[in-house]
Amino acid sequence: MAEFDVIVIGGGPGGYVCAIHCAQLGLKTACVEGRGSLGGTCLNVGCIPSKALLHATHELHELHENFDKMGLTQASVKVDWTKMQSYKQDVIDGNTKGIEFLFKKNKVTWLQGWGSIPAAGQVKVGDEVHTAKNIVIATGSEPASLPGIEIDEETVVTSTGALALPKIPKSMVVIGAGVIGLEMGSVYARLGTEVTVVEYLDAITPGMDGEVARSFQKILTKQGLKFVLGAAVQGVEKGKGKNTVKYKLRKDDSEATIEAEVVLVATGRKPYTTGLGLEAAGVEVLPRGQVKTDAHWQTNVPGIYAIGDAIIGPMLAHKAEDEGMAVAEVIAGKHGHVNYDVIPGVIYTTPEVASVGKTEEALKQEGRAYKVGKFSFMGNGRAKAVFQSEGFVKLIVDAGTDRILGCHIIGPSAGELIHEVCVAMEFGASAQDLALTCHAHPTFSEAVREAALACGLGAIHA
Ligand code: NAI
Repeated sequence: MAEFDVIVIGGGPGGYVCAIHCAQLGLKTACVEGRGSLGGTCLNVGCIPSKALLHATHELHELHENFDKMGLTQASVKVDWTKMQSYKQDVIDGNTKGIEFLFKKNKVTWLQGWGSIPAAGQVKVGDEVHTAKNIVIATGSEPASLPGIEIDEETVVTSTGALALPKIPKSMVVIGAGVIGLEMGSVYARLGTEVTVVEYLDAITPGMDGEVARSFQKILTKQGLKFVLGAAVQGVEKGKGKNTVKYKLRKDDSEATIEAEVVLVATGRKPYTTGLGLEAAGVEVLPRGQVKTDAHWQTNVPGIYAIGDAIIGPMLAHKAEDEGMAVAEVIAGKHGHVNYDVIPGVIYTTPEVASVGKTEEALKQEGRAYKVGKFSFMGNGRAKAVFQSEGFVKLIVDAGTDRILGCHIIGPSAGELIHEVCVAMEFGASAQDLALTCHAHPTFSEAVREAALACGLGAIHA
């Protein structure tokens, strides 16, 4: 049993970042994690392993699509799935061990095991009860399935099973055209799997700028993914070597089925707070399972805080990290702050899709007057040189003041380009500020500047 200033429960991006920052601020800190390695869903079975598979399969796609065009002829490779999986594991291990190193460097104690809160000020791990002046719940989320679907992580899988299938399936039905469904769907489509995405809504990627979503769907369709939209999945029937997905088309209630070797259920995630003993500790939980917090991430019980996927807001690693940093500041008696209006979202397909701030749809609903500056990557020399001229940058500004309200990008390195706009938004910049900033040539980021120019007198290369 030990005494700490802070015990963080959960070693994912929210929890480990919070623990390190608490230690940096001079607080005696421990982090509880029972998984066997640090890094949470993100590093072990989420963002990081999926990026390894997206990278490997992107290279394969390049070889098939573009190598010959560049004079790299007769190139052929064989996909060794076992080796690709061990590359993915190496990437995971390198990253999770890195967090262990950072804990040692910052003197954060890793309490190995699953934690619970027997009472305010106490955290139980195994048989030991530790005391802490402050407790931070950073227990993340788990996949949310649908009624009528039994997940076995073998042929009916969540993202966890999809990252570690024993072999490349011939066919896959993805339920849900959200981030997970499209990233993992892309991985398998590039490996030759016949991928069909079944989505409840009439468009893919709910909440995304409509123009980007439509363009994204067209591009993915060209890459071989099939889409059934407006279809509510009713259940999955397991059979020998194949599963049958039953769905109802929303427009006329007609029923249909599709068969596939593997079914990926990617219909969202829900907060994970099982076993924490929140009820006994008197911590209030919202109807949808999130821990209720105030604007300073404090729950209704003094000294117990919560961050990340376990509370409301977008379920994104970087949102959790920012909250982890901010709550550490609050606990240390400083001023922690997260600007929820400037949280980027990225989908790591090819092309990448990235967005920040308001969409046109949201502004129309608000009745706010806005202007759009758009620039296609067709006019970007660098993008053309590397076969990535599909897509565009769309900058949305206030019609009266030119202040940037949002940006939506589909194209090469969109996930990197978006941050220039995030910084601009944090500084309350106008499109003209971006347009007057010198951008190196030839870079993809020139497309962002051109979109900013398009908010004024017009882009040059359009
Ligand atoms: P999501 O919420 O992004 O998408 C789920 C989709 O499933 C929605 O389009 C929804 O309409 C559809 N759906 C729900 N019920 C359905 C039904 N009965 N039949 C057909 N479709 C149905 O959830 P997803 O992709 O599972 O991701 C979970 C969370 O993880 C998200 O919050 C996401 O932001 C996060 N994540 C973020 C990543 C990134 O930032 N690159 C990568 C992976 C996950």
